[in-house]
Amino acid sequence: MKIKSTFSQSLISWYKKNARSLPWRKTKDPYKIWISEVMLQQTTVNAVIPYYERWVREFPSIADVSQAPLQKILKLWQGLGYYQRAKNIHKSAKIVCDGYAGQLPEEAESLRRLPGFGPYTTGAVLSIAFNKRYPIIDANVRRVIMRVLAIKGCADTTQDKRILEFLHQTMPHRDIGIFNQGLMELGALICRNRQPLCLLCPVKQNCAAYRKGVQEIIPTPKKRNIQDIAAAIGILERNGHYFIQKRPSHGLLADLWEFPGGKLGEGETALQAIRREIKEELGCELEKAEHIMNLRHFYTSFRVHLYVFRCKLKSYPSGDQTHQWVTLKELSNYPMPSGNAKLVARLESENSVERIGLSPGGISKSCR
Ligand code: ADE
Repeated sequence: MKIKSTFSQSLISWYKKNARSLPWRKTKDPYKIWISEVMLQQTTVNAVIPYYERWVREFPSIADVSQAPLQKILKLWQGLGYYQRAKNIHKSAKIVCDGYAGQLPEEAESLRRLPGFGPYTTGAVLSIAFNKRYPIIDANVRRVIMRVLAIKGCADTTQDKRILEFLHQTMPHRDIGIFNQGLMELGALICRNRQPLCLLCPVKQNCAAYRKGVQEIIPTPKKRNIQDIAAAIGILERNGHYFIQKRPSHGLLADLWEFPGGKLGEGETALQAIRREIKEELGCELEKAEHIMNLRHFYTSFRVHLYVFRCKLKSYPSGDQTHQWVTLKELSNYPMPSGNAKLVARLESENSVERIGLSPGGISKSCR
């Protein structure tokens, strides 16, 4: 089909000239391509770069991942979010070392059985690392093809049947990895969500939305519903040791460590919430709480407002497998949700200010 082949040829030659030089594009190692593709799901290229570089420095091979403790894996992932991705990499690395001599298999059926290998990751590894003819759809590809075909509606998985049909017909028989990355790159650089740069587009001749002038209204913008969450956090400190606890192994932010505390209930003040949480979580009575700071952290679909209290208790919990008293220095080995990690950074900077004899300043209100 002539049109289809001009599409892929134009895309591939554009990619060869214009692709960004990204660290995972300089390797042919399927393991590293796999890691980059998992990191790039839900996360922007710029955010991924330092994580990818740290990861491959720390774990040059799949065997290194399989031998590392989960805590170290999660620590390297801290801040990237969607931590299940890191746990699945860890599980898959063990399986690949036990069953495939430490090398990722090249067959779709074997890859699909590994934890975390859904259609996207499987297609990305097969096409980019092994140059096999598998299409992939991420948010950029979906938007590009919806415009090329002038498909109206929201960019969601209900569009993927038509998009896959198009990709199956259009993919070349060689340079598959380049074709797939070319679509993603085109979406990131030219066929952007807002203000697409159609005049620079290598496939504008093949784009129905461009011909009809409807590229700005395809896809229909999503209504973002950002939720605000308020939570109270308690800092318990004794003899230079801070109390942290491990979150359950299932659910949100599973297996990460955090300071005690939790969400404010309906009509509850932050002080009431920290008193209740300390009672519920630790079985201890609050004696005194000093409000030392507020922190905010933005996630994709919610904003967290943290009210931080330095707490004195009538009696203190002891440590066990999931509850620990650790120094500030040791805290840096524990994977934490980003809001808590920000708090650790603040405590560290206050600590260094105190050590050189300055007042830490900031809000400070004592409440009984
Ligand atoms: N997003 C997902 N995979 C990507 C890749 N290989 N390069 C750039 N952005 C991507």
